[in-house]
Amino acid sequence: CGIVGYIGTNETVSVLLNGLEKLEYRGYDSAGIATLSDRAVNLFKVKGRIQALRDKVGTEGESTIGIGHTRWATHGEPSEENAHPHQSQSGRFTLVHNGVIENYYELRDEYLTDVTLTSETDTEIIVQLIEKKFNETNDVLTAFKNVMSMLKGSYAIGLLDKENPDLIYVSKNKSPLLVGLGDDFNLVASDAIATLKQTNTYLEIEDGEIVLVEKEQVRIQKLDGTTVEREPFIVETDAADTEKGTYDYFMMKEIDEQPFVMRKIIQQYQDESNNIKVEQVVRDEMAKADRIYIIAAGTSYNAGLVGKQIIENVAGIPVEVHIASEFSYNMPLLSEKPLFIFISQSGETADSRSVLVKTQAMGHPSITVTNVPGSTLSREADYTLPLYAGPEIAVASTKAYTAQIAVLTILAVDTAKAKGKTLTFDPLQELAIVANAMETLTDKKDVFEQMALDLFKDTRNAFYIGRGVDYYVVQEASLKLKEISYIQAEGFAGGELKHGTIALIEEGTPVIAIATQENVNLSIRGNVQEVAARGANTCTVSMEGLEKDEDRVVLPHVHPLLTPLVSVVPMQLLAYYAAVQRGCDVDKPRNLAKSVTVE
Ligand code: G6P
Repeated sequence: CGIVGYIGTNETVSVLLNGLEKLEYRGYDSAGIATLSDRAVNLFKVKGRIQALRDKVGTEGESTIGIGHTRWATHGEPSEENAHPHQSQSGRFTLVHNGVIENYYELRDEYLTDVTLTSETDTEIIVQLIEKKFNETNDVLTAFKNVMSMLKGSYAIGLLDKENPDLIYVSKNKSPLLVGLGDDFNLVASDAIATLKQTNTYLEIEDGEIVLVEKEQVRIQKLDGTTVEREPFIVETDAADTEKGTYDYFMMKEIDEQPFVMRKIIQQYQDESNNIKVEQVVRDEMAKADRIYIIAAGTSYNAGLVGKQIIENVAGIPVEVHIASEFSYNMPLLSEKPLFIFISQSGETADSRSVLVKTQAMGHPSITVTNVPGSTLSREADYTLPLYAGPEIAVASTKAYTAQIAVLTILAVDTAKAKGKTLTFDPLQELAIVANAMETLTDKKDVFEQMALDLFKDTRNAFYIGRGVDYYVVQEASLKLKEISYIQAEGFAGGELKHGTIALIEEGTPVIAIATQENVNLSIRGNVQEVAARGANTCTVSMEGLEKDEDRVVLPHVHPLLTPLVSVVPMQLLAYYAAVQRGCDVDKPRNLAKSVTVE
């Protein structure tokens, strides 16, 4: 979910709606805003997208103060009633919330049996409790603090009091929230991207702090009332980078940006004498580690699998890759000197953060590989390796995946060098070759558009197979296809499909094979034959030097360890066109959110 709050001049409604539009990547199943005028609340809520909310608001509700929310449903289905903002019984308090309140049943049963709740959300409990506490204490700040100290779980909260149009009450725990500073206004946002048009100057808020946001000042205090002083920071992202320009969808823009991202990474991780530049402290941690634990979710997890292959091969350190939500509650036996690497495009994934909190408490060192320096995981881990990929807006991740692999490659090579290993390749040079190879593929979009039509037009399901590192890429390929085109897709190890799933192969079932590795070139082709013999519509993607006549795509030659960076590009394009051809909303697939800030 995403939150925006604004206090300043009479442009609240447009700041809120524009901000929410930028936050739609965090969820888009329902939305709402509330503003205050003449001690009355103007409340607008819709099920659906921000555009629907914009239509509903029209020219109404203008004010100098307001809060807004775009939702990804956790408790309660997407509906107008469950959309935020939520109001207290008397209508005095209005609140937006991102996160999950774990003790909400307890709070409801203990304190709110006499209140008629109008939604199924955990959020409404908070605002009703605030009113209850206010009735007891007659002081809004005390009531707010009181309730914050009762909540268990994650939250980022903005609260309006109808009787005080000069103040937004804010607090957070585990969920991201920033305060933006302006000349005659101040604002609150889940992510600076929401409000870059207004300001690039932001204040971090730490867990458990209470923030009083007024037009002319922002005061931070702890629950016990102690004042906190904090220096603001500048967000470097250019607002223009968050626009899609002439593209139909952000996803295609981001696929196209991959060669530039590779070049940017080369430039950022290189010193004046063309050597790899990685902080000495990171180098030291890598040198000390007897085992690396990569923790991630979704596409970042898939990038971690490739990263494992590269780190083990190049740096000679054993690597385990774990799904964050599993690791958090089912921790394996750890080695003596573990190093944790968190891979996260957004740096906000709650499942990953939960692991970070636990492993940090155990005293283990951590590195975050992220596209958003300043994000929660970046701030809380010991070190950060930035991706330099620029904002990624489409829910389906593309350029972050390739950037993650590129940065892990650089880290692996740096570690190998520090350990005195002799390397047979120069990673920066190889990444430059990768960038060119990516470009030759993105220049041939019409080929993939046609191929998508042939493979996926009427299909219910699709299978991807690969061996070795190609197996890791097909997992990402299938994730891409299913998340945006809703075709049921799975990625299998080439030899495994026949141990069960081959039963699903029918006449015309698409099976896409990636074959970029010499040592398994023959065996993966054998697997393609097995499914072809049972009617599958096969498509082999190979690499120069390994190709056969029947291959539908031959990738330009790159270093064998780096083939995932190139072989994934046709997979992204195929998924994109399959989604477009099926009339899907490519950038905002149903039920998904880009940044999942709840566990
Ligand atoms: C969500 C997104 C995925 C993403 C995953 C991890 O599920 O829909 O595209 O890969 O979160 O996100 P992160 O920001 O941690 O990489």
